[in-house]
Amino acid sequence: MKILGIETSCDETACAVVENGRKILSTIVASQVDEHRLYGGVVPEIASRRHAECIVQVCEEALEKASCKLDNVDGIAVTFAPGLIGALLVGVNFAKGLSIAAGKPLIPVHHIKGHAAANYPAHPELEPPYLCLAVSGGHSQIMEVKSYTDFTVLGRTLDDAAGEAFDKVARALGFPYPGGVFIDKAAHDGDKSIYTLPYPKTANELDFSFSGLKTAVINLIHNAEQRGEELDKNALAASFQHTVCDILCTKLFKAAHLTGHKKIALTGGVAANSGLRAMITGRTEEIGVEVFIPPLALCGDNAAMIAAQGYYELLAGNTADLSLNASANFDL
Ligand code: KG4
Ligand code: ZN
Repeated sequence: MKILGIETSCDETACAVVENGRKILSTIVASQVDEHRLYGGVVPEIASRRHAECIVQVCEEALEKASCKLDNVDGIAVTFAPGLIGALLVGVNFAKGLSIAAGKPLIPVHHIKGHAAANYPAHPELEPPYLCLAVSGGHSQIMEVKSYTDFTVLGRTLDDAAGEAFDKVARALGFPYPGGVFIDKAAHDGDKSIYTLPYPKTANELDFSFSGLKTAVINLIHNAEQRGEELDKNALAASFQHTVCDILCTKLFKAAHLTGHKKIALTGGVAANSGLRAMITGRTEEIGVEVFIPPLALCGDNAAMIAAQGYYELLAGNTADLSLNASANFDL
């Protein structure tokens, strides 16, 4: 069964064709990041306009690369929530148009469920149930993936998402947007023991809170600037990255311990972080659980993950009619 996936929740216009949830026939991502970088973050109206401009071409490319026509796909999967509302609406309405034109089922996909499915093409052996840590620019949550379509959130961020904290700290250190990858690079050359950063506490031990940690780093930078002291940027990046990764890993393994899950998956843009990938893999070996991490190309927003999840949603009968609407916030 071939599913056409469409993703426009933020600043990537993406379309992909995936067979049986596992085999990527094509995946096209048109990133707008260079334009948003000028403003230091995503400008919602610009994002919507760029999606509207390039979605047809991205979709045509995805179909062509997969050597298939709209008639040959078995469903149109689209991210309907959560995300920037104007951006989501472009994808949802485009998917509706294709669904009417081709007479194919319309499959709404939750963006975070889509991120979880980013592991399926690379790891054919991964099947629910398992634990999944989704860490992106907008979300940080530990989820129990009970079946392909039934998720329970065990812990979530109470304030900033992990990627958001990376981006804000990166900005304070003078790196371009989105700064996660620049912190990752700087951290390689830094000594993480030079700066000591706070570990935030949360009432639910599986929840996250990154706002205090982010503020502590920003204050440290401002204080150094005011005193005219030179800051070791690489060391601060290394300390910050290590602290975030340690918090994420500790809570994920705590969740594995509490639930008894032996399979854990990582996903989302921050899953591209080299420190997090190494730490999670290292600790996994220590405690004997199996870890699944998507290839770098599927960590950030893409439509292959939406098509993969769409396949399982279709099997579960989760289709929508043409009254489908987008939603900026929507719980799993
Ligand atoms: O999943 P994603 O592409 O979009 C959302 O759904 O938010 O995630 C984007 C986030 C950004 O905050 C970006 O800085 C972060 O992922 N990111 C990284 C790395 N690569 C991307 N954070 C840390 N280290 C990286 N290597
Ligand atoms: Zn995402």
